[in-house]
Amino acid sequence: MQSLEFYREEFTEYLGKKIVSKKPENLYDPVVYIMGLGGKRLRPILTLMAADLFGGDHKKAMDAAMAIEVFHNFSLVHDDIMDDAPLRRGQPTVHEKWNVNTGILSGDAMLISAYQCLEGYEGDTFKALLNLFSKTAIEVCEGQQYDIDFETRNDVAIGEYLKMIEYKTAVLIAAALKMGAIVASAPDEEQELIYEFGRNLGIAFQLQDDYLDAFGNPETFGKQVGGDIIENKKTFLYIEAYRHASEADRKTLVDLYALQPEDPTEKVQKAKAIFERSGAVNAIKRKIENYTEIAFESLAKIKADEENKKVFEDFGNNLMQRTF
Ligand code: IPE
Ligand code: IPE
Ligand code: MG
Ligand code: MG
Ligand code: MG
Repeated sequence: MQSLEFYREEFTEYLGKKIVSKKPENLYDPVVYIMGLGGKRLRPILTLMAADLFGGDHKKAMDAAMAIEVFHNFSLVHDDIMDDAPLRRGQPTVHEKWNVNTGILSGDAMLISAYQCLEGYEGDTFKALLNLFSKTAIEVCEGQQYDIDFETRNDVAIGEYLKMIEYKTAVLIAAALKMGAIVASAPDEEQELIYEFGRNLGIAFQLQDDYLDAFGNPETFGKQVGGDIIENKKTFLYIEAYRHASEADRKTLVDLYALQPEDPTEKVQKAKAIFERSGAVNAIKRKIENYTEIAFESLAKIKADEENKKVFEDFGNNLMQRTF
């Protein structure tokens, strides 16, 4: 197995060759733009790593990795429309730079081309990849709908929230890993273990995303800090604060989340103060560690070279330290 940097570079090089603009420019330029803004490339790296972990060849997993990354970027373009987000990876979002209709259609084209990335696989491998990819894509839609539904509710239970983030985020990370395992023809039990590793790591990842959305450094985060508060998102921070805040703070929180003021500065400040005072910030940090630990338990059960598994463990630990 190679280093994370190696897989990232291999993937980026492949992407540079694959993702090029053509006519009509207004359909494809936004695709090149969003894919070219980079991002961490976590999911495709995981696909390539999983292929090598199970004795396959990461080069054969390149198109599966591409399918995952194109799908991820499609979901971000539409997510930014739904979340009214101005910034992505430190740059204007597609619908801000072009317009909403462009975001919708370029996103649609990306979703379709994600499927096209899988056309080169054959037989049982193709079928398994396609089944998993479609199942995952529909789950992401379900997760995204819950996320939107929860904006107008203030009685979201922690279990409902966890299901929502599992679907909108964790299953894609899990599928990225499992697709690498499928390409490597790993045994079913091993495929399930790597999927479980990814699912739990993905839940930790989305919890961390929620934390950074409120408390990240605007210089490095790359997205609008406070965006979830502005949009009344029922994140772990909100739910936990609602449960444990003083009666006065709870009332303030509910009132704040009933409004969408022109200037959100004060709303964001007040909500963050309540998140801290109520213990929600400490709780989310513990929760991130818990889910990462659970992920590592699945990893430990995988029958593969221990040194190679260590690369996955480092990956998980790095995610907890991330600032963007
Ligand atoms: C952002 O994903 C969307 C979430 C599921 C939180 P990433 O944080 O992986 O985004 P990029 O691709 O690195 O920009
Ligand atoms: C994103 O969740 C999940 C998907 C894009 C499917 P968020 O809305 O929290 O992601 P960011 O914070 O905009 O990246
Ligand atoms: Mg968003
Ligand atoms: Mg969203
Ligand atoms: Mg977020």
